[in-house]
Amino acid sequence: MPEPFARCQYPTTPRSVARARADSLAFLSSCGIGRETGFASDLALVVSELMTNAVTHGRVPGTSGRQIGMSIEKAGNVYRIEVRDTQRNGMPVLGEPNGLGGGGRGLLLVESLSDKWGVRPEGAGKTVWAEKEFGAGNDCK
Ligand SMILES: Nc1ncnc2c1ncn2[C@@H]1O[C@H](COP(=O)(O)OP(=O)(O)OP(=O)(O)O)[C@@H](O)[C@H]1O
Ligand SMILES: [Mg+2]
Repeated sequence: MPEPFARCQYPTTPRSVARARADSLAFLSSCGIGRETGFASDLALVVSELMTNAVTHGRVPGTSGRQIGMSIEKAGNVYRIEVRDTQRNGMPVLGEPNGLGGGGRGLLLVESLSDKWGVRPEGAGKTVWAEKEFGAGNDCK
């Protein structure tokens, strides 16, 4: 029996961040992981940061349509999120925070809340992924 998998395409607009977060929480819920759990909150925050990056840094000006792809997949106890955008210029870099009120913290959150994350270049753009295992001592409230 195949493991659960969900995929969605979103427009490159800020509103897509909340939609993707809600979609991933619904997916986790269907896998028996309640929205109120720390695990679901951590994963939702990872989704938020990757989606925010996709709709800001990964946006291609002058284009429209559902160009951001997000998938969430369960393989055993490991949950994997992938966010793909079509911007060829620039790649995610784990950076130095830009001082008080500045940016540069999103991927640091992803690094700390996931077990591992990475980037895969695509023909046009890239896929940023993150994985987190349920039940590895990180699923308490
Ligand atoms: N999808 C992406 N496409 C292109 N560049 C990206 C992408 N995601 C991140 N980056 C690059 O990596 C940098 C670090 O990303 P990070 O999310 O840590 O910080 P930020 O987005 O600049 O600020 P913050 O997330 O704190 O609001 C970004 O400033 C950007 O240059
Ligand atoms: Mg960011």
